[in-house]
Amino acid sequence: MTHSIIMLCIWFFLSSYMFQTSTSLDSLAVSQSIRDGETLVSAGGITKVGFFSPENSTRRYLGIWYTNYPSTVVWVANRNAPLEKNSGVLKLNKKGILELLNATNSTIWSSNISSKAVNNPIAYLLDSGNFVLKNGQQSNQENILWQSFDYPCDTLMPGMKLGWNLETGLERSLSSWKSVDDPAEGEYTLKLDLEGYPQAVIHKGPEIKIRKGPWNGQSWPGFPDPTLKISQIFVFNEKEVSYKFKLLDKSMFSIYTLTPSGTGESFYWTTETSNQQVFLTGGKDQCENYAFCGVNSICSIDNDDSTCNCITGYSPQFSEYSSISPNGCFPTIKSNCNDSHSDDFLKYKHMKLPDTSSSWFSKTMNLEDCKKLCLENCSCVAYANLDMRGGGSGCLLWFSNLVDMRKFSQWGQDLYVRVPASKLGHVAAANGNLKKKIVGITVGVTIFGLIITCVCILILKNSGAARKIYGKHYKNIQRKEDIDLPNFNLSVLAKATENFSTKNKLGEGGFGQVYKGTLRDGKELAVKRLSKKSGQGLDELKTEVVFIAKLQHRNLVKLLGCCIEGEEKLLIYEYMANQSLDYFIFDKTKRMLLDWSKRSKIISGIARGLLYLHQDSRLRIIHRDLKTSNILLDTNFEPKISDFGVARSFLGDQDEANTNTIVGTYGYMPPEYAARGHFSVKSDVFSYGVIVLEIISGKKNREFSNSDNFNNLPGHVSILILLCC
Ligand SMILES: *[C@@H]1O[C@H](CO)[C@@H](O)[C@H](O)[C@H]1NC(C)=O
Ligand SMILES: *[C@@H]1O[C@H](CO)[C@@H](O)[C@H](O)[C@H]1NC(C)=O
Ligand SMILES: *[C@@H]1O[C@H](CO)[C@@H](O)[C@H](O)[C@H]1NC(C)=O
Ligand SMILES: *[C@@H]1O[C@H](CO)[C@@H](O)[C@H](O)[C@H]1NC(C)=O
Ligand SMILES: *[C@@H]1O[C@H](CO)[C@@H](O)[C@H](O)[C@H]1NC(C)=O
Ligand SMILES: *[C@@H]1O[C@H](CO)[C@@H](O)[C@H](O)[C@H]1NC(C)=O
Repeated sequence: MTHSIIMLCIWFFLSSYMFQTSTSLDSLAVSQSIRDGETLVSAGGITKVGFFSPENSTRRYLGIWYTNYPSTVVWVANRNAPLEKNSGVLKLNKKGILELLNATNSTIWSSNISSKAVNNPIAYLLDSGNFVLKNGQQSNQENILWQSFDYPCDTLMPGMKLGWNLETGLERSLSSWKSVDDPAEGEYTLKLDLEGYPQAVIHKGPEIKIRKGPWNGQSWPGFPDPTLKISQIFVFNEKEVSYKFKLLDKSMFSIYTLTPSGTGESFYWTTETSNQQVFLTGGKDQCENYAFCGVNSICSIDNDDSTCNCITGYSPQFSEYSSISPNGCFPTIKSNCNDSHSDDFLKYKHMKLPDTSSSWFSKTMNLEDCKKLCLENCSCVAYANLDMRGGGSGCLLWFSNLVDMRKFSQWGQDLYVRVPASKLGHVAAANGNLKKKIVGITVGVTIFGLIITCVCILILKNSGAARKIYGKHYKNIQRKEDIDLPNFNLSVLAKATENFSTKNKLGEGGFGQVYKGTLRDGKELAVKRLSKKSGQGLDELKTEVVFIAKLQHRNLVKLLGCCIEGEEKLLIYEYMANQSLDYFIFDKTKRMLLDWSKRSKIISGIARGLLYLHQDSRLRIIHRDLKTSNILLDTNFEPKISDFGVARSFLGDQDEANTNTIVGTYGYMPPEYAARGHFSVKSDVFSYGVIVLEIISGKKNREFSNSDNFNNLPGHVSILILLCC
């Protein structure tokens, strides 16, 4: 009985599926057309071409999207010439040109004329998302008259090439949308620059914003595919310079998009779930900004004690106007090249290689010959392998300032930098550890530390004698004590949040999304739904639950209960009517609701909550991710510290936290933590100081900038203090 029901269901499913695909076309022949409202569907039903409007826009565009993810448009034909009404028609004419006509039959967009002879042209939409125009039904590549893959918009799809066809001169590059609701060409482009040795670069107008580096044989260094679900292919020969990626898992979808703000995002989803996973592939930290440290300086986030380090034999040079922002580093001793053959090279591991736009290269030379060649030319400053696979091959040489270097904790390549013979002795003595700190930054930070310390001594009276690492405390507690916490029913929470609808979304926490929920009796809740992919395991969740439940303080957000059902893990907090601090202080009009007495109340409230965490509670906790968006406000604007997800994750595995898992938010982290992973209660005090400055100034730390190039709030404040003393 059950079998026949299942068979029936399958039959229904299949027949409706067949019905759908059999009535929808995947091709357009001469004199056929698609009107607004109609679509072409690829043979496998995977992609569609048709008319759409971006969210919050009424303009109509002809675009391509995935059937199971219609909100993400991957290609737009008339991006610079929108239709004002639903009257667009796409036609294929006898000359083999696709034409988009408006209500008065004017062509507002057309495909390019092919140099090939046209004979019975047909346009096909392929499952790959490529809209292809070819002669008849023959499938050979030669036959293609025009294809949308040759004219990318902001998205790279599997199989689509980025780069150059050197025979025809065709360049394929991505250009961002102007904004989320306007597909017109925006400010940012991602292209392969052919100067010197080719590299992938994101430009903002004519300027370089992010350099993804030269191809290292496997990937663009520093931007490895975190999922290993794609294979990447780079072709560099006389005919073409191109990059493309392929999916290794057939049930998987993946696209790469250059967003309107100039960062790259990789999206992954599968046939089963329509939930997209997003990986930022750019914009993660300051070191990604092109030449952030100036010339001959290495940017590092997680390995050294300051962000910028000169290469050996070079020392920092500051600009005339600022003692904080370096121009980079310059040779301490001018090499006279009298004795160049006794120069040697210092090896820097895990590097993103410097800008190769003026490099010389050879694909065949080995490292030994590469070194010799560099040594023979006294203007050669560095060399490296071009391809790091199989022990390395090829040769890259640099002859001028080394720009945009970065040190990673993993990945990266070996770079050999020339050191003058006269410097070599020092190097040996200092065991290769001669890196010069950028003094200005250290000074700035120290002054800032002083100010904050003064403010905080008053409030916290917590002298900050470095406490022990607290991880072990938690672990013990977790084992010994069990918590009695109300367990909510998933169906109740789903109902309360209207099935986690986006309109109830309050924000994004460290490990998932937060929704507003309303129970049947009218009680309001904040529900944090931990994302399944967040990597937060059951044990870690329990740890978080245990210690938030144990903490009771009027300035900490209160946990009401939890819910663990199957894959779903949810935490339920009290609902805060006034959302979070950032919602108010960074908004010109809302800020006015917070007068000075309220702000002072908030500042001391946060301090009391922090003092409790650090000193008065039984657990002693370092929050590690204090920031304005984690300070919630109740109806009376009483501040409540929230989001303990990061404090917990550190506690789980202390070694890992100390080596490479730097969690928290840049801008709120003290430099020694961002750089080395060292932290103590003082780290929270630093973040607290940043919050205090933000509350007072109403300016965001990270977005703060003025004409003097101090790109953060503490830097600016330290200068003001220097000026007034
Ligand atoms: C559309 O407009 C609404 C209301 O102004 C806004 O909340 C939403 O974020 C907008 N969506 C996009 C994609 O801009
Ligand atoms: C159609 O496009 C032409 C040329 O761009 C324009 O002059 C005309 O006003 C458009 N018609 C409508 C109805 O938008
Ligand atoms: C546009 O072309 C169609 C078909 O050729 C025709 O029926 C229609 O009258 C034309 N509209 C205008 C405004 O010229
Ligand atoms: C192809 O069309 C684009 C606009 O769609 C245009 O910018 C480009 O110059 C054309 N190329 C050729 C070879 O016609
Ligand atoms: C370079 O060598 C030449 C001759 O060997 C010598 O006269 C000159 O002083 C040297 N320059 C320096 C800067 O040592
Ligand atoms: C060193 O290399 C540069 C750049 O390739 C070249 O212009 C210069 O002539 C070379 N110098 C010597 C001495 O080979």
